[in-house]
Amino acid sequence: MGVRIGVGRLAGAVINEGGIGVIASVGLADIDKTLNAGYIEDSECKLVDEIRIARSITGSKGPLGVNVMVALTNYESLVRTAVKEGVDLIISGAGLPLRLPAYVDEKTALVPVVSSGRALKLVMKTWRSKYDRVPDAIILEGPLCGGHLGFSYEQIEHPETCSIDKILAEAREVLGEEHKRIPLIAAEGVTCRADIDRYLAMGFAGVQIGTRFICTAESGMERKGQEHYIRACAGDVTVVQSPVGLPVRVLRSPLVERMLSGQREKFKCPYKCLITCDMKKVPFCIAQALLAAREGDWENGLFMTGCNVDPITQITTVKEFIAELLQEANV
Ligand SMILES: Cc1cc2nc3c(=O)[nH]c(=O)nc-3n(C[C@H](O)[C@H](O)[C@H](O)COP(=O)(O)O)c2cc1C
Repeated sequence: MGVRIGVGRLAGAVINEGGIGVIASVGLADIDKTLNAGYIEDSECKLVDEIRIARSITGSKGPLGVNVMVALTNYESLVRTAVKEGVDLIISGAGLPLRLPAYVDEKTALVPVVSSGRALKLVMKTWRSKYDRVPDAIILEGPLCGGHLGFSYEQIEHPETCSIDKILAEAREVLGEEHKRIPLIAAEGVTCRADIDRYLAMGFAGVQIGTRFICTAESGMERKGQEHYIRACAGDVTVVQSPVGLPVRVLRSPLVERMLSGQREKFKCPYKCLITCDMKKVPFCIAQALLAAREGDWENGLFMTGCNVDPITQITTVKEFIAELLQEANV
């Protein structure tokens, strides 16, 4: 989870409890120090730092992944950096990762994130014909999940029309017999064991968890920021247009209210971090707003979230949270 929420410390802690740890590569560079130059190089260095932090926590054991958003201007450089550092997998969405196989070696597992059978079909066709590769696993994000959404506003208003079980059926149709070989991972609203069991019963091989990890001791978000998630209920969650060019699900914060009332924030664009962002048109800088959220700045932060915030009532360690998931499994 970007920006700087799910990085080395959280990824390392998840791996130590038996999960796959994922580092979000977006927004790691020091924006102030790279005002004039050096954004790409600093992004690479900071990604290497986070990978090494995770490795030092786990003793270099366990599966470590890096998430790279397709919409990033420095997409290729981040993927290549992660591969050079020997990470086990690259997860890539927020756009279609059609060129991803061109930037990796054969050892690195590739996990695209999609929200429809149509998107998956395009990824499969391109990867097969151009690179002779198929995904090593596929993450299916449902319409209620956190962060950027691969759905239209109409679909988001009627999530039953594009629910995760429908996406699963579409994915299976696209994959045919191959669906037995490629693990499908559900990403939407997991906060407890019952959620996981529901997805396993549907036929998913695993889950990706976002929002619930924000309120862990190992998350990069400051305590002040975490408290907004603890206080929040489902009614505080809304969807707005992101400079990424996709709808994004967020907590209704003062920044969101200002944006919805048509106001534009004053900002400088130190580096055009998103391919899709037109700084003359967008109402705020998403990099700055996500960094503000990470620091707990309620006035100016953009607090990305999934729909399922009601069960998040306290900050726990990753160890406690995962033990809870495993214990409930044995009951
Ligand atoms: C704060 C936040 C940051 C996120 N950052 C990223 C990101 O950098 N890249 C990405 O592909 N998905 C990102 N996501 C989406 C998650 O990876 C995940 O798929 C989603 O949150 C799952 O739904 P859940 O939050 O309901 O568990 C983010 C989600 C949240 C809530």
